[in-house]
Amino acid sequence: MKYAIITYGCQMNLHESEKIAGVLREHGYDERAELEDADIIVFNTCCIRENAENHAFGNIGALKKLKRQKRHLIIAVGGCMAQEEGKAALLKERFPFLDIIFGTHNLDELGELIERKRREKRAIISLREERRSTEDGIVPVRTSYPNAWVNITYGCNNFCSYCIVPYVRGRERSRHAEDIIAEVTSLVKEGYREITLLGQNVDSYHSEEGVRFPALLDACARIEGKFRLRFMTSHPKDFSEELVETIARHEKICNHIHLPVQSGNDRILALMNRRYTRAHYLECLAMLRARVPGCAVSTDLIVGFPTETEEEFCDTLSLVEEADFSTAFTFIYSPRKGTKAAAMQGQIPEAVQKERIMRLVEAVNANTRRLSAGYVGKDTEILCEDFDKKRGMYLGRNPEGRMGYFTSDRDRIGEFVTLHVTSANGISLYGEERGD
Ligand code: SAH
Ligand code: SF4
Ligand code: F3S
Repeated sequence: MKYAIITYGCQMNLHESEKIAGVLREHGYDERAELEDADIIVFNTCCIRENAENHAFGNIGALKKLKRQKRHLIIAVGGCMAQEEGKAALLKERFPFLDIIFGTHNLDELGELIERKRREKRAIISLREERRSTEDGIVPVRTSYPNAWVNITYGCNNFCSYCIVPYVRGRERSRHAEDIIAEVTSLVKEGYREITLLGQNVDSYHSEEGVRFPALLDACARIEGKFRLRFMTSHPKDFSEELVETIARHEKICNHIHLPVQSGNDRILALMNRRYTRAHYLECLAMLRARVPGCAVSTDLIVGFPTETEEEFCDTLSLVEEADFSTAFTFIYSPRKGTKAAAMQGQIPEAVQKERIMRLVEAVNANTRRLSAGYVGKDTEILCEDFDKKRGMYLGRNPEGRMGYFTSDRDRIGEFVTLHVTSANGISLYGEERGD
């Protein structure tokens, strides 16, 4: 029997889809397939912004016909949207043909739910308030070789006023350091070349045994073998000198940090409940760059937060240059039911939000282009991760997260390649492999 998984949202969800595949493999579905050929289809959803939900709703709705033609087909919806308050009932009402709806804390139970569904006719809805344990015992089917994701924390306690994650992912829980180190060690042994430690706020990692994030990162970087370490996401309020020292100490830790700032204006940052100021953020960057020269910093930015004025938006615009972001994800604020910001007065009209995001994207792109151009004529090491059929080129990222393209007459995926950069376009670098 065959399976298909459709994933929305962040790295956390991408990795969870690898775990979902692991569960499916244990329950008789042993081959990945296109939607039309699948015997089970799982949607792993996201609800961070309204358009993420709309996508999922549209794609689930489109399966009605397939389900009618293929009676034994099981359709399951999991992930953050399924966990969102009231959404499971709404999904059931809108799509009566759904077989299973499961929340973010139920992954370890998915196998049982599938077995139950095979016996029972009615739809099964299973949502839990909390994750049972930090170890789910699931062996993921990894699809991102030579990269591998490793969870270090689950959930989030920060309650940024715009964000739904703490509601759908629950309270923050840290895995045991020894479990994480064992997982990384075995991934490196298996041949994975880049490990990304995942958490909503990795800096607040705190194991029961008292291990903090810098110590965990340090321990991972001491694992033998040629590999790179990345981590995301960091939070400026918890950013520490100790972390910077750890990055500086280890070659294996990439010179790249994703440090979402959200806004360049202090009044908006306070309303967002981010608990730092623009000045604090810039101090973090100065400390980082003094100890780790050339360290790339990427970020997330939100425009059109309730009550944001033109001047306040311009503070975000000016920060893009001042902070010298290598890249940035830019978002239009999307009100999420149940969050503090959704109930605030002064929601910004869509036309204003759209106009602001266009200006912001232009500023971000200009900076990205300028930094990319700086690589031309230089060498940079990329980890080859894929082949781009359209371009007919291999590609991979350098430690700072820039995408490098090159041609080769043999399969290079999983290899470290020194690229001599000959041209740049946006975030992409093009070059030739440097021979020994
Ligand atoms: N835990 C991470 C990332 C969370 S979600 C962090 O704290 O940075 C990824 C990004 O989505 C956030 O950084 C934020 O920029 C954006 N985001 C979250 N909620 C949003 C909302 N309601 N509207 C628009 N963007 C949002
Ligand atoms: Fe959301 Fe803030 Fe937690 Fe990130 S830190 S997941 S933005 S509440
Ligand atoms: Fe990730 Fe979306 Fe959930 S961003 S944590 S999948 S709401």
